[in-house]
Amino acid sequence: MALTLTVNGHTRTLAIEDDTPLLWVIRDELGLKGTKFGCGAGLCGACTVHLDGAPVRSCSTPVSMAAGRSVTTIEGITPAEGLHPLQQAWVDHGVPQCGYCQSGQIMTAAHLLAYNASPGDDEIVAAMSGNLCRCGTYSKIIAAVKSVAA
Ligand code: FES
Repeated sequence: MALTLTVNGHTRTLAIEDDTPLLWVIRDELGLKGTKFGCGAGLCGACTVHLDGAPVRSCSTPVSMAAGRSVTTIEGITPAEGLHPLQQAWVDHGVPQCGYCQSGQIMTAAHLLAYNASPGDDEIVAAMSGNLCRCGTYSKIIAAVKSVAA
């Protein structure tokens, strides 16, 4: 079936099965490889993108749910020049180790700061708790988010 969605400001019409996971549309159909496959079961957060501004697990979101809506990936928050403030904070705090989960982490942090510009430690921990990191970079993630908070 033909399905239209907007990804990072670009409206696309795709011929695709409506139960295809949004993750595979993003990665394989649109070539946006910043969004990662981790567990494939909605558990780890590596595949986090924004759907109409809210974080979703793209591995367990059928593309039909994105029809007529706006999807933002890590590429969509990365400026043409330089880095998003959270990306810069990630660099400044040396957050990534293997780096695999970090785009999902940053998308979740971006959503947090969009609705709460000055989160406390507990709020940051709560907001980020669904994004798992096998390298255990959690304390650096909290420090990086705090550094961007107002
Ligand atoms: Fe989607 Fe783990 S890959 S939540």
